[in-house]
Amino acid sequence: MYNSFDELERDCKACKKCELCKTRQNVVFGVGNKKAEVLFIGEGPGENEDIKGEPFVGRGGQLLDKMINAVELDRNTNIYIANIVKCRPPQNRDPLPEEQEACMDWLRNQIALIKPKIIVCLGRISAMKLIKPDIKITKEHGIFFEKNNFIIMATLHPAALLRNPANKPAAFEDFLKLREKINEVCEHTY
Ligand code: URA
Repeated sequence: MYNSFDELERDCKACKKCELCKTRQNVVFGVGNKKAEVLFIGEGPGENEDIKGEPFVGRGGQLLDKMINAVELDRNTNIYIANIVKCRPPQNRDPLPEEQEACMDWLRNQIALIKPKIIVCLGRISAMKLIKPDIKITKEHGIFFEKNNFIIMATLHPAALLRNPANKPAAFEDFLKLREKINEVCEHTY
């Protein structure tokens, strides 16, 4: 385990634990406040993220920013955003189970150092890995689970909302619930 976020980031950026290192342009480690009480976790970088080295910077990311900003959250000040896998899977395919497992130690260390109160899984892959393998995200998004002393919720992936805009209001409800939960359990004034 790491004591220093900077050392963790440095080692992660040199990672060669799986094949994704061969095709990546950048390792997408994460963005935000390292002391955030709320941690968002997506699936893995897409093309734009691979180019920029930052999570959720494409069209899905713009939608995510709109929703988080609407509940007074901001990627540069009071939350942290990371992914299950730190390198882009070719053609944006789902990360393979072995790629997810190879990458999980980076995320485990990020979580251990950030010590968030609330974790929000963005999409099915993240929810399956972090909440339960058989989660049905269409039914169970917006529900707060308790796991390993974290409060953890899944919401629909922003890219899925772009494909299916009719689900945007349901996803936004999740963000309103998140705001209520933050008011209830977080110490910092958000
Ligand atoms: N989708 C994700 O799950 N993560 C990103 O960083 C970008 C798109």
